[in-house]
Formats: sequence, structure tokens, C-alpha cells
Amino acid sequence: MKTIIANWKMYLGVRESVALSRGVLRGLRGMKTIPEVILAPSYPALGEVSKILSRSRVRLSAQNMSHQDHGAYTGDVSSRMLKELGVNAVILGHSERRAKGMVDSDVHLKLVRAVAEGIDPIVCVGEPSATHEAGETEGYVHEQINTIFEGVETNKRSTIYVAYEPLWAIGSGKTPSIHDVETVHAMIREQLSELGIDKVSVLYGGSVDPENAYEFLNNSEVDGVLIGGAGVRIQKLLDIITVASEIKA
Ligand code: PGA
Repeated sequence: MKTIIANWKMYLGVRESVALSRGVLRGLRGMKTIPEVILAPSYPALGEVSKILSRSRVRLSAQNMSHQDHGAYTGDVSSRMLKELGVNAVILGHSERRAKGMVDSDVHLKLVRAVAEGIDPIVCVGEPSATHEAGETEGYVHEQINTIFEGVETNKRSTIYVAYEPLWAIGSGKTPSIHDVETVHAMIREQLSELGIDKVSVLYGGSVDPENAYEFLNNSEVDGVLIGGAGVRIQKLLDIITVASEIKA
């Protein structure tokens, strides 16, 4: 089964998120096989969206989380607060957080916290444009995976999602070749397996839309996609989910 994650970033408020979630559930009703769908609204919308999704199989993700347990951390949100709202996944290390100063060692700490709390982590990695152009993508991502995952003990309950999102592909309309995606995904899977982490789902993210979704999703190295821009438009999101539902995994 393929996985579709829609990251709604800071695009949608509570009412819009509720409307889009309802639209997704309505759209899923007509589908024969339903892929795994994970919606990631903004923090303020999590509670209301959670109520809507509660009797469905659609999962709820946050877009970030503190690695701290609790305390004087103004503006931060803890894993326990997320669990209270029915959140069961969290995006960690998205490039738009990294642009504000988050580094791999921070992502590592967040990952440890998420796993301890039973929240499935969606860890984002990916190289900047210059690294891609220099042909050094694999080395770069290898290093990221090492720093983030080394010494992390996962448990059987958690699925670890890793989203390979080249920074230059996010929101740009540009995508890497399927061959490049396949190579990086295979490397990530092998590396995690060497670290003893086997329950892994490796996703691609960066300018995925209904037109290119099939090429990514139809590849056996690609367990799913993480969508930004296309995921806030109901028809585009349902079109991508439909593509996923028609692929025999
Ligand atoms: P995009 O965003 O689909 O708009 O490129 C992807 C992401 O930020 O995860």
C-alpha cells in the first residue's frame, strides 16, 4: 500500500482545514482500494481535524514538534500535547524548518522523542541544489541519515517514514529523474537496515502533482509521496490519491 502525505504548511486555517479534510473523506468513499493517507494541518487546526478523522483510517500528522518533554519553551509544542489531540505522526526536519536553523542533530533529538512517545516520525532529508549539481547527493543524504538515525532505537509499533525531498525540488516545479530517486531511496533503505531499522517507508517529496505522481508511485523503491502545494487543492489531492489507489503495491 502506498502512502500519501499532504503537508498543508501555513496555507490553511482551521475552517479551511476542516473543509479539506471532509472533502478528502468524501473522495475516499468512492475508491475501491484506499492508500494510506496522512494529513498534516497547522497546529491550530489539529484538534478540529482530529475529530473529523477519528472514525476514518486517515491519519493525522503535525508539521513539527519539540524534542523537550515539557517546561519553559515558549512557542513550542510537545509530543504529549500532540498525542492528546489524537496526532499519530509528525514531520521532522522539513526544509522550511531547516531554513530557520534546525539541523540534523535537532532532528535526531526530535526523532528519539517521537519514537518514545509512539508518534510515527516523517523524517525529511535532501540535498541543496549545488550538491545535486556537483553529483554529491548520495554522500550528502548518507551523512544526514547517519546523524539523524545513529543510535536511535525504534520499536515494533512505529513505522519510520523518511521523505527524500531535494531542496531544489520543493515548490519549484522541478523534480529529479526517477532513476536518481530510486538510487537515493535504495541507499536510505540499506543504510537504515544496517542501523537495525527495518520498518521503514521511503517517500519522495518535491513538486509532486497529479501529472507526475504515477511515475514516482509506480516505482517499487517509492513507498509514497509527500505533497505540499498540490495537497491543499482538493481535486489535485484526490487525483494523486486515486493514482496511488490504482497501483498494486
Ligand atoms: P511541494 O512541497 O509539493 O509544494 O514541492 C513539498 C514539501 O514541502 O514537502
